[in-house]
Order: sequence, then structure tokens, then C-alpha cells
Amino acid sequence: MECWLFTYIGIATCSIVAFKIVSKIVHALRIYVFPTIPNFSKYGKWTVVTGCTSGIGKSIAKALAARGQNVALISRNPEKLKLVATELETKYNVQTKSLTIDFTQDESIYEKIEEFLQGMDIGTLVNNVGMASPLAFYLDTKNLSQILPAIMKVNVMSVFKMTQIVLPGMMERKRGLILNISSASSLVPVNGFSVYGATKSLVNYFSKCISRECEGHGITVQSVKPFFVSTNMVNNVKPTMVIMDVDYYVNSLLGTIGKERESDGCWQHGLQGFFVRHMPEGMFNALIKRRMKTMQRNLALAGQAAKKDT
Ligand SMILES: NC(=O)c1ccc[n+]([C@@H]2O[C@H](COP(=O)([O-])OP(=O)(O)OC[C@H]3O[C@@H](n4cnc5c(N)ncnc54)[C@H](OP(=O)(O)O)[C@@H]3O)[C@@H](O)[C@H]2O)c1
Repeated sequence: MECWLFTYIGIATCSIVAFKIVSKIVHALRIYVFPTIPNFSKYGKWTVVTGCTSGIGKSIAKALAARGQNVALISRNPEKLKLVATELETKYNVQTKSLTIDFTQDESIYEKIEEFLQGMDIGTLVNNVGMASPLAFYLDTKNLSQILPAIMKVNVMSVFKMTQIVLPGMMERKRGLILNISSASSLVPVNGFSVYGATKSLVNYFSKCISRECEGHGITVQSVKPFFVSTNMVNNVKPTMVIMDVDYYVNSLLGTIGKERESDGCWQHGLQGFFVRHMPEGMFNALIKRRMKTMQRNLALAGQAAKKDT
């Protein structure tokens, strides 16, 4: 009798594991091998992107403009904003609106943003703006007192406040898409990522909660958790098998929209995420700790090389 019981439990456990593996494979095929990119006009005419003058934000702005979206650009550098706006208008024949905002500033910036976005049919909000903190242990971080308030405002408050401004209109219209750019550093605690990773965990958690609250209102909320993508933030380190070219990453990310609440963005990052999630945390951190000096050196070297190139 006991023997049969153990056999049934074994069969049930194997079936559950097999089912989980098969559904993961089917899901990966659906988003990465046979992706379908949504028609963004079903959400609305305008897309708002914060931090849109380089990297992931600029690439998303271009990708959505190429699909007919008018783009409201919010970033800190007026000259760069002008260049991006001109590029989108001439290349893709769409409308743009630009607002110069430094997200490290006090809360009054959000009154300006609210006024700027007044009356627009905003279908998509991309909460992309972000800053990194130096890759270092918490107590070894230089200028920690200056970094802490700035990173909280840029990485966290911007997401909260932009959502507060844009979501009510989406609720009224019963349609919308919010993409929140978190980071793979929110997956597990990692040596050297305490400040940045904590801000990105907050973004991820907030995103998941808002996604639940929006259920049944026609609004999709999705958190995006990239590993390394070659942008200014990581000193434009050369793309490799694991470090993604930014346009490649964004193109792949578009295929995941609306199909998962949290997204790795591309299959290469999905694979890295799988290992990080399943590796014992201690082992992963020991690896990072051993490689910390090399990673810091590589980032610094990439920075010098990028400066030489410009
Ligand atoms: N790259 C990665 O490996 C990686 C990995 C995980 C998550 N992420 C996340 O992806 C998002 C985009 O980062 P990225 O890699 O594309 O970096 P990026 O190339 O440095 O782009 C950041 C954008 O935000 C703008 N910005 C920065 N600080 C700002 C501020 N205080 N006020 C207004 N605008 C500001 C930048 O303006 P300027 O052009 O004037 O600098 C730029 O347009 C961030 O949230 C980041 O945390 C990136």
C-alpha cells in the first residue's frame, strides 16, 4: 500500500515538473521564436518615454515611432532632446513633444510634467530613466550621501510619480501600456548592487502590484529586467553573447509585451536569469565577489575606450 502511495506521489511530482518545463519552453518559443509585436495605436496615439536621449529609452522611442506612435520625450539635456525629436520626426514622420527635466530635482518637476502631458491621448508610458550607483560594497561606495537621494528620485520616485500622473487617463479610456524598466539586479541579492538593486527591486514590486490593480481595466503593466545592455550606463561595453546590443535588445523586448508581467527582454537574458534564479545564492555571490575587481576594471576600461572613440 505504502509502495503504491510513493509511486503515485512520484508520478504526480514528475508530471508537475514536466508540465512546468514544457509550459516554460512553449512560453519562450511564443515570445522569442514566434514573437508578435502589438499594434501600439490600440493603447493610444502618444507614447511617453523618460530618459530618452540615449540607450534603452532612445531605442524604445525610435522603435515605437517607427510603428506610428507620436512621442513625448522627457530627459535632462535640451540639445540631445532636440536631436532625438528631429530624428523621430524626419525618419518616421510622427509628432514629438519635448520637456527638459532633471529627475534628481525636487517634486515640483512633476507639476511641470503634468502640465506638459495635459490633454494628450497617452497610450504608452515607458518609465525608463535610471542611474547606476558605483559597483562597490555599500560602505565602500564613494559619495554615498549624494548618491542616495539622487538615485531614489531618479530610479524610484520617477516611476511612482509618472504612474500617478498618467494612469488616471488610461483608467478613464480603459486602455494603456506601462513599461517599467527595472533590472536583473532585482532578481537576487548581489554583492556590490545593494543600492541600485534595491531601487530596481522596488520598481519591480511596484510594477507587479500596479499590474494587479489594473486587471480588468484594459491596461497592461510590465516590468523589464535586463542584464547588461551596451549603453552609456555601462560605459558602452562591447556587445557579446551575454551583453546585448541595445537595438537588438529592444526589438526582442517588443515581442514580450503583454505576454508576461515580468520580462527578461531577450532569450540570452532569460537564460542568464534562469541560472541566477536557480544557482545557490552563496555560490553566485562568491563568484561576483571574486570577479568584482575585474568587473570594475573592465567597466573603467570600456569607459576610457568610449571616450577615445568620441
Ligand atoms: N544598460 C544596462 O545594462 C541596464 C541593465 C539593467 C537595467 N537598466 C536600466 O535601463 C534604463 C535605461 O538605462 P540605459 O542603460 O539606457 O542608460 P543610459 O544610456 O545612460 O540612458 C539613461 C537615459 O536617462 C537619462 N537620464 C539619466 N539621468 C537623468 C536625470 N537625472 N534626469 C533626466 N534624465 C536622465 C539620460 O540622459 P543623458 O543622455 O543626458 O545622459 C539617458 O537619456 C535605466 O533605468 C537602467 O537602470 C540598464
